Amino acid sequence: MKLLARLSPLALGLTTAVHAFSFDLDVLGRAPSYTDLVSFDNYSLSLLGQRLFLHSGEFHTYRLPVPDLWPDILQKVKAAGFNSLSIYTHMGSINPAPGVIDFDGYRALKPLYEAAKEAGIWLVMRPGPYINAEISAGGLAHWLTSEVAGTLRTNATDFHDSWVPYIQGFIDETAPYQITEGGPVIAVQIDNEYSQKLGAEFFQELIDYYHASDIVVPLTYNDPGQNKNFINGTGAVDLYGIDYYPQLFDCSNPYDWKPLRSNYLQYHLEANPSQPHYSPEFQGGAFDAWGPTAPGYDSCATLTGPDFMDVFYKHMWASNAKLMSYYMIYGGTSWGAMPFPGVYTSYDYGATISENRVLRNKYGELKRQGFFIRSSPDFYKTQWLGDTLNGLKVGAPEDTFVTHLLNPDTQAGFYILRHNDSASRDNVDVPITIQTSAGPIDTSIVLDGRQSKIILADYKFGASSSILYSTAQVYFAGVIDDRDVILLYGDEGQDVEFAIDLVGENNAEVPEGVSITEGNTTVVSVSTTTGLLTIHDSDAQLVLFADTETATGFFAPTIPDATADFGNFWSYGTNNTVLVGGGPYLVRTASIDGETLVLTGDLNTSTTATIIAPASVQAVKWNGVDLEVSASNVSSKGALQAALPFAGLSEQISLPTLGGWKYRDSLPEITTGYDDSAWTIANKTQTNIPQKPLYGDGRVLYGCDYGFCENIVLWRGHFNSTGEQKSVNLSINGGQAYAATVWLNDVFLNTSYGNSTNNRNPIEERDLVFNFPEGALVDGDNVITVVQDNMGLNETNGGNPNSSKGPRGIRGFQLDSGNFSDWKVQGKVGGYTDFPDKKRGVMNEGGLFGERAGWHLPGYDTSEWEERDLSQGLAEGKAGVGFFVTTFDLDIPEGVDAPISLTFEEELGAAYRVYLFVNGWMMGKRVANLGPQYKFPVHEGILDYHGTNTVAVALWAMEDEEVSPTLALTLDAVFEGGVGEITIDNPQWEATGREVE
Ligand SMILES: *[C@@H]1O[C@H](CO)[C@@H](O)[C@H](O)[C@H]1NC(C)=O
Repeated sequence: MKLLARLSPLALGLTTAVHAFSFDLDVLGRAPSYTDLVSFDNYSLSLLGQRLFLHSGEFHTYRLPVPDLWPDILQKVKAAGFNSLSIYTHMGSINPAPGVIDFDGYRALKPLYEAAKEAGIWLVMRPGPYINAEISAGGLAHWLTSEVAGTLRTNATDFHDSWVPYIQGFIDETAPYQITEGGPVIAVQIDNEYSQKLGAEFFQELIDYYHASDIVVPLTYNDPGQNKNFINGTGAVDLYGIDYYPQLFDCSNPYDWKPLRSNYLQYHLEANPSQPHYSPEFQGGAFDAWGPTAPGYDSCATLTGPDFMDVFYKHMWASNAKLMSYYMIYGGTSWGAMPFPGVYTSYDYGATISENRVLRNKYGELKRQGFFIRSSPDFYKTQWLGDTLNGLKVGAPEDTFVTHLLNPDTQAGFYILRHNDSASRDNVDVPITIQTSAGPIDTSIVLDGRQSKIILADYKFGASSSILYSTAQVYFAGVIDDRDVILLYGDEGQDVEFAIDLVGENNAEVPEGVSITEGNTTVVSVSTTTGLLTIHDSDAQLVLFADTETATGFFAPTIPDATADFGNFWSYGTNNTVLVGGGPYLVRTASIDGETLVLTGDLNTSTTATIIAPASVQAVKWNGVDLEVSASNVSSKGALQAALPFAGLSEQISLPTLGGWKYRDSLPEITTGYDDSAWTIANKTQTNIPQKPLYGDGRVLYGCDYGFCENIVLWRGHFNSTGEQKSVNLSINGGQAYAATVWLNDVFLNTSYGNSTNNRNPIEERDLVFNFPEGALVDGDNVITVVQDNMGLNETNGGNPNSSKGPRGIRGFQLDSGNFSDWKVQGKVGGYTDFPDKKRGVMNEGGLFGERAGWHLPGYDTSEWEERDLSQGLAEGKAGVGFFVTTFDLDIPEGVDAPISLTFEEELGAAYRVYLFVNGWMMGKRVANLGPQYKFPVHEGILDYHGTNTVAVALWAMEDEEVSPTLALTLDAVFEGGVGEITIDNPQWEATGREVE
């Protein structure tokens, strides 16, 4: 479907519009030629003229390098009642070299856009070019950090020229998928987290560039704090937002909450009162740093767990925020050279969806919030009536805090209640007076520790039903089969009540624990309960109540309307849904085909689903299989029970033991007579990197200046023996947690270690003297060989946009006597301009001999290699680098999503690093003497679940010590269902155009 950009919703004949909008162009700062299909006022965003609570999470497709799995994340987000995702794109992958724009494979946007359309998920795109994101150089292409002389993220001409092809590429991919074209893209963010003082002209250049292009959706911004950047003046965007991470990023003490900050709304009203309150990033987890005391991502998930989401997210609702995106909702993997030096390979983030795509317990809270928002359109436009006791009488205890929000059009009231001390663990009974259209109501509500609740007044649901007030929470409200349906819930052991206009002749008995008092309006009181209760069941209305856990088991999938525009988007193309509860792990999609409800989803156990559907539904298909269906007593019509069969396929899965390893030394560079004549001579004396060489002879030994910007880089410094030399002084820069091992000829000298202890005491460069042992010096030509791990480039810090240019390499070199003749450098084959593996891209490999030869790739012939078990480590317990390669077969049953990890099983502590390649993809960096990561999830799509797989371990021992890595395949979970067929496309060694060494 094509829509003309300039059509108004009325011209589109949209009758569902709740908001006849007009906007003041001066306020919006936008010319009238842009689309009015996306608009906003001081309350909320509107799409197609209809208000929306933008309910979103952050997902980086490049951190899940299997495009066939992207719909899995979209479906999981959609199934929680959410309507949007926020997406960074990665310049560093898409634009690996000057003038090269590559939207193939995991870099593609089209499959994301198609999947979002299919799932009914709106997208806010955030292409940067700078994204921060705990990614090397904050996402800027590595090449520009050395090729651009001007200051990054300014209007410097060469910086401008460096981002134009990438942004133009993004525009070409994205413009056809804007909402104006029937697509999912509703906004584009300008860069990220910056300062107007430093970047006003740069932002204005980006804005002008978009405005001269086919991009017509609003341009947005994410401020890193309450700094009022880019609201007015040069570089100001259309819609301003701010990010909040109330618990920051140390997950070491996950039960100690930092206090909730009370001035969110006040800041918004000072900063941009004519716009809606928008948080493009609100804390959805936290990243974790290198180091033995790093707490790991499960701690981050605890720190930002369901109670945190309950209290802190609803505090943003209480601050009248109507656009919220949780960073991250799925973190994924910073594979290859993606991480900035502050984080390790996993970017799990403690997010709701874990790195291996398994749902954490946070998902239940996400669903409760997602379905409440989706069910409550009156909440999309509210006035804030004060956060004192306004409108609500709160007696003892006085330590609770309530905010009253009121819809000015419908008078629906929302009282958001929490403890004054957000971290309080007290359980209190709070007396309240609720203002309703029938006058003030005195009642009380129980508030548990670290809990937030919403008390409703004059809440409308379905087509014509209403609740006068409720201390029960709303899980779902809507229309099913022309009947108004609501599912309320309360915690076990907490009494709740609600006053409701019950409509139609009731077919239900009053359940135990429920009392119904008829009056002007009927008051329903529910005491301690478990399970699903039918309160009222008529042809016009179905009122259900459940305990929190039972309610949370329900899904309400969107039933797309194939004939409508935006037919998969909730409330835009369809309002049709069904309720499916009782234990399916996930309900992905639903449709109705005649009398059959067609569901797809995942199971991790057998269960019986309770289904509320149109009365015409007589049969249910689950993942293509007809289910055994029986009547359910939940409702007199439209209620079914269906047995969901878990076949127990997990018992058919046994993962092979990794064995039969083949071994080959990967450091011929330290052997006598090694020929480095094909290597690049490192003889530059100029660099655009601000940190200049510390000492030496003026030569610049920074890898990126020679095209070798990421992963391992090798250096060889030649000198003639004077017979006198006893040492060399080297200052080596690799970024936080780096290592660099140094040899004189074939004699190990020492390893220079960076450091990090949970982001404290980080060391990114060390200046050390390497002493030559007796007899190491030879007559004539001697060679210092340095194997250097490049941990990535820093993010831009504070006031210095050039801090993402980094001197990774050797910043100082000096023999104690005499001088170096040639310095040679070698990184990945071809450097960034001519690397052969276009599929896996510029981030994948580095300069180890084995990588240059392609030993990490599937199909490399290792038949002549030595047989040696990985646990035997390198020969003779020496420092060095070797490759271990083996293959294994997987035979995972079809129709199963079985996340698998590669797990190092021995304790932390040994002085080695591993670059772990799975079917050619560098899926993990194990730093055994630093930690913490030992388990590396690898997805189907990288793994072939129905064939042969290759694992290659590049083992770098950093001391003359025995190391003994043990590696195993581990099965993380088994779900019957999944997203469907996954294409396997892992180019073999032959296909990546390398020569046998
Ligand atoms: C960058 O912006 C400054 C401030 O407006 C201006 O003086 C300068 O000429 C601009 N530089 C370029 C290259 O456009």
